[in-house]
Formats: sequence, structure tokens, C-alpha cells
Amino acid sequence: MRTELREMTLEDYQEIYALWQESEGLKLTDDDSRESIRHFLERNPHLSFVTVENGKIVAAALCGHDGRHGYIHNLAVRKSHRKQGIGKSLVGRCMFALTGIGISRCHLYVEGDNQAGIAFWKQLGWEQRVELITMSQPLRQ
Ligand SMILES: CC(C)(COP(=O)(O)OP(=O)(O)OC[C@H]1O[C@@H](n2cnc3c(N)ncnc32)[C@H](O)[C@@H]1OP(=O)(O)O)[C@@H](O)C(=O)NCCC(=O)NCCS
Repeated sequence: MRTELREMTLEDYQEIYALWQESEGLKLTDDDSRESIRHFLERNPHLSFVTVENGKIVAAALCGHDGRHGYIHNLAVRKSHRKQGIGKSLVGRCMFALTGIGISRCHLYVEGDNQAGIAFWKQLGWEQRVELITMSQPLRQ
């Protein structure tokens, strides 16, 4: 089956959100709302991608940067399409796009109990930073 990798647009949101919802290992929050993704894509143009097969999205990756480091979020491949190199090629496309705008290091968050996700990233050569702890606080609107 022929698949195509292309830039993500906001019109993809509904399909992508459904994919995220069925993807174990991802925990969706308000940050994944349509408005939040619209803001993200506007701030980070040409960095997020989807894989499409016969007009249907089968995989997606959000990618952005803060001016110094890149970040990949919510990588998901439909269960029926896993272990075919689709996740790896999406990640490669994101990293290529980051390199093209002068970003030389990329980070990502994985839920601590997502063992399959962690194994995937390690297989791709990503290093688990055990010396780092992530801290967060909601901001008042
Ligand atoms: C993790 C995920 C994105 C992998 O996508 P995929 O398309 O199946 O991965 P690929 O086929 O591109 O695999 C790339 C490499 O990783 C390996 N790999 C894939 N899934 C793996 C797993 N669960 N455990 C160990 N290795 C794995 C593949 O064997 C392949 O190795 P190779 O390059 O030596 O052949 C997919 O399983 C998924 O959507 N999971 C649910 C959501 C999630 O956990 N996302 C990541 C959290 S941020």
C-alpha cells in the first residue's frame, strides 16, 4: 500500500485526535485541544507531519522548537500500521526539518510507564536522561 508523508495542517485535527485517543501510551490533556494545536502549528510551521494512506491519516507527529531545542510530541502510528518503519520515518522527517532551521538537539517526553514507547525511542538511538526531572506548573489565564 502506498503511503505519503506530508505536513500536518489544522484540517487534519479531527482525524489526528481520534488517532491519539486510540494510541495507548499517550495521555491527552487540554493542551491537545484544537485551539492549542492551532497555536502550536502557527508557532512551529513546517515541522509537524502526518503519514497518509488512501486519503486516511495512519500516523502523526507534532514537532516544534523553542529557538534552542526541538521537541517531538504525540507521535502515534495506527495499530494496523506499526512495525513497518512509519514511526521511524516520521521522526526522521521531523529531525530533518529541525536541522534545516538550525536546531541541533531534540528532546521529547514519554510517560514513565510507556515501556513500548521507551523501547522504540531507544531503538532509534535516543538517550534516556535519568539525571533530569521534569517539573511543571499550570499558568493562570
Ligand atoms: C511507538 C510507535 C510510534 C512506533 O511506531 P512504528 O511505526 O511501529 O515504529 P517503526 O516501525 O518505525 O520502528 C522503528 C524501529 O523501532 C522498533 N520498534 C518499534 N516499536 C517497538 C517496540 N514497541 N519495542 C521495541 N522496538 C520497537 C522497530 O522494530 C524498528 O527497529 P529497526 O529500525 O531496527 O527495524 C507506535 O508503536 C505507537 O504509535 N505507539 C503508541 C503511541 C506511543 O507510545 N507513542 C510514543 C510516545 S511519545
